[in-house]
Amino acid sequence: MVESSRTEDSTVEFTVNGAAVAVPVGESLLDALREHLGITSAKDGCSPQGQCGCCTVWVDGQPRVACVTPVGRVAGRSVTTLEGLDGADRWAEAFCAGGGSQCGFCTPGIIMRVAALTAPTDAAVRQALLAHLCRCTGWHPVVNSVLSAPERAPASLEQTGRGVRASLEGGVAQDVGAHVALGRGGFADDTAPPGALVALLDAEGEWVVGESLAQARRLSGKIQGRRTTAPLRSPIELPAGAWMRTLQTTWVEPAYLEPDAAWCEPGGAPASSLGNGGAFGGKTSTEVGDVARRLADEHGRAVRVLFTREDVVRRGPKRPPIAAGVRADGTGVIRVARTPGIARAIASIAPGLVVEEVDVAGPPTTSAARAAGWAEAAVLLASIAVSPLDPEIDPENDMVTAPNGATAWASIDSDGSLHVRVRCGEPLDEAVLRSYCTGAAHMALGWVRSEGLAIGADGTPLDLTIRSFGVLRAIDTPPIDIVIEPDDGEPVNGSDAVFAAVAAAAWRRAGYPPEWPAAR
Ligand code: FES
Repeated sequence: MVESSRTEDSTVEFTVNGAAVAVPVGESLLDALREHLGITSAKDGCSPQGQCGCCTVWVDGQPRVACVTPVGRVAGRSVTTLEGLDGADRWAEAFCAGGGSQCGFCTPGIIMRVAALTAPTDAAVRQALLAHLCRCTGWHPVVNSVLSAPERAPASLEQTGRGVRASLEGGVAQDVGAHVALGRGGFADDTAPPGALVALLDAEGEWVVGESLAQARRLSGKIQGRRTTAPLRSPIELPAGAWMRTLQTTWVEPAYLEPDAAWCEPGGAPASSLGNGGAFGGKTSTEVGDVARRLADEHGRAVRVLFTREDVVRRGPKRPPIAAGVRADGTGVIRVARTPGIARAIASIAPGLVVEEVDVAGPPTTSAARAAGWAEAAVLLASIAVSPLDPEIDPENDMVTAPNGATAWASIDSDGSLHVRVRCGEPLDEAVLRSYCTGAAHMALGWVRSEGLAIGADGTPLDLTIRSFGVLRAIDTPPIDIVIEPDDGEPVNGSDAVFAAVAAAAWRRAGYPPEWPAAR
C-alpha cells in the first residue's frame, strides 16, 4: 500500500488490487481504471450518471460507483476490482451455473456489490441490487446465483458449451461461461487497441475525434442527460370502431446495458457492436461500426467509436407505439408507427388484424425489438380468448404460440406471483433457458406496468437517464416460476413466446387498462 497523495505533477497515487499506481488527477476513477490502467472489468453503462452500477468497485473494501468517484478522492486508498477480488472465480461459476449472467455487462459490478455483503440473505441481496440494473436476467437468476455462491467450486474458464442455447434465445451469437461473468465477454470497448483515437458525438450530432476519451469528451462538450417530468403519452389515435378491447402503447427503450461501441483499424473490419448479445434488437442498425471504419481510414489510425447513454436514447431505435382495437371475433385494426417489417410481423400471428402504419414524430423505431408487432397482436387476441392458432385457449392461463412455433403459457396469482410454462424444443441447457425466460417475463411485466420513454411534441426523447425507462427493480419483481415443458423437437427461441404470454397475463391481471404502461 502506498502512502499517497496528490503529487506535484498532478498525478494521484493509490493501490489497485494491491499494486501501487499513479494516474492523472481530474478524471473519474472509472476512467483511471479503464483508460489509464487497462482494467476492463469495470464497465461504463451510463457514466457519469452513476445509475446502472456496472462500474462498481471497492474503495477500502466498500462498494463504490467508479464513474461518479473523482479519482482524487481515492488518493492513498485501496481500490479492488473484480480482477483482484478473492473468490472471483467462485462467484463467476455461481453466476454461470445459475444463469445470473447473460450478456455479462452488468455482472462484474453486481459481483463487487454482493461480495461485500456480510449476510447475503435473499432480502439483503435484493436491497443491494437497488444500485444496479440488469436487462437480461429478470433478477431472480442473479439472486439465486448469489445465494448459491458459497457452495460453488472455483470456475474453470473453459467454454461450457452452453452458448448454443444462449444464441437461440438471444438471436445472435452469445458466449456463456465463467469468463463472461468475469467481464471478459468480448465487448468492443474492452478489446480496442491501446492508443486508438476516440470518437464521440457532439451536441450537433457530429463525430469529434480525440487522442483520448478525456479529450474527446472535452471536444464533444458532453452535457449530462436528465430525466424529465414530462408525462408518457400514447402518440397514436385509436381507430374508430366498436371494439371489445383497445390498447394504446408508447415508445419503449430497449434499455440494454452496454452502450453501442465499435473500433476499427484502417482498412480493417470493425469490431462487432453486438458485444455479447443482441441488445434485444436495439443494435441491429447501429451506425458505430461504419463510423469506426470511416474514421479509421480518414485518420490512418485505429479509432474507438462510442455512444454515451444519452446517445443510445436519442439515436437508438425503440419499440414502436401502437393504437389498436379488436372485436370479439379476433378482427380489428392495429395502427402502428411506420416501421419497416412491422406489418409482416403482425400478420404472422394475426392475419385478421388490419395494419395501418402511421407517421409519428419520434425517435427511430424497429421491428427487430423483442417480438415487436406480433407480441402486441398476440396480447390483443389473448385478451379476447381467441387465437387463430389455438381456439382451445384457457381463459385463465394466457397462451401464445410465437411465429417460430414456441409456445408459452402464463398466469398471475392474486398475490402477484407469476407462473410460466414454455415449450420450445429440446432444452439444451435448462439454466440458460430458465434465465432467458425469467428475463423475458421481467421485461414483459415492465412493458405492461412501468416502461416507457417520454417524447416531446417535436419527437425528441426527453428522458435521457437509464433510470428513466421504468425497468422493474429486483425488489419490485414478483416471484417467477418457470416450467420447461418436455419436448424433443428442434430447439427454438422460447423467451419471445414467454414475453408475449406474460404481457397478456399482466394485462389480464391489471383488468385490461387501455394504455400501457398502466402505471403512467
Ligand atoms: Fe445483466 Fe445483460 S446480464 S444486463
